[in-house]
Amino acid sequence: MSAPPKTVLKVSPDEAEAIRQAVRTPGLSLLGEGYALAGAEHISGLVDLLSDPAVSEPIYDLPRPMTRANVAAWVADAERLRQAGEALLVVATDQDERIWLYSRFTVWPERTAAEIAGAHRADHQNAGLGKAGAARSFNWMFEALGVRLVCVTAALDNARSASVIEAAGFAAMGERDGVRPDGSVRRSRYWEMTREAWRTRPQREQA
Ligand SMILES: CC(C)(COP(=O)(O)OP(=O)(O)OC[C@H]1O[C@@H](n2cnc3c(N)ncnc32)[C@H](O)[C@@H]1OP(=O)(O)O)[C@@H](O)C(=O)NCCC(=O)NCCS
Repeated sequence: MSAPPKTVLKVSPDEAEAIRQAVRTPGLSLLGEGYALAGAEHISGLVDLLSDPAVSEPIYDLPRPMTRANVAAWVADAERLRQAGEALLVVATDQDERIWLYSRFTVWPERTAAEIAGAHRADHQNAGLGKAGAARSFNWMFEALGVRLVCVTAALDNARSASVIEAAGFAAMGERDGVRPDGSVRRSRYWEMTREAWRTRPQREQA
């Protein structure tokens, strides 16, 4: 379960409603080619993707065990939350129609905030795609979803994710506990970025 950010911003009802509406009707083409909302047609591909520990092991809030039924329930739950304006589960497929990426956005409209978690298929890792892709996703959260705060976490030993997050200019804000679906706790490093800081970040950090 994702926890809302440490920082609390004041949000008007109009702003919160605009964010909910953006989540309900997301413009995914700005995220990249081949991106789609996860649906029933992606369940087998997601099971394949997430069954690889190189993909799923670092991520605490995935369904486990990685059965078809658990993944189907996770996809259905994300769709229910999208309709409420509170989450998006997105996949990207390659030319062979195989899923090579998933991203899950958790959104707190009344906090004008969102979080992203996700992974690339193993053969798309360590290929220099992470930083540019993450920057595109962060930009999309601020500019298309319209949130003013983005938070992210990574396992204490996930140096690669930390490198991607800090290259984007996020501010390290200590650690926090994440709760896995089975109730166990995963200690994480924690970062935040405001939209203002994103828009004025130094040129070298821009995608
Ligand atoms: C995290 C993830 C999306 C990053 O994408 P990626 O394409 O593998 O990352 P990149 O190849 O762009 O590498 C990112 C940076 O990490 C650096 N890096 C790689 N291994 C590292 C390590 N052990 N320590 C520090 N930095 C490391 C790379 O050098 C690169 O920096 P550079 O561009 O300045 O050289 C991808 O690795 C992934 O899906 N991992 C599994 C799931 C996961 O960890 N998800 C994130 C949960 S928070």
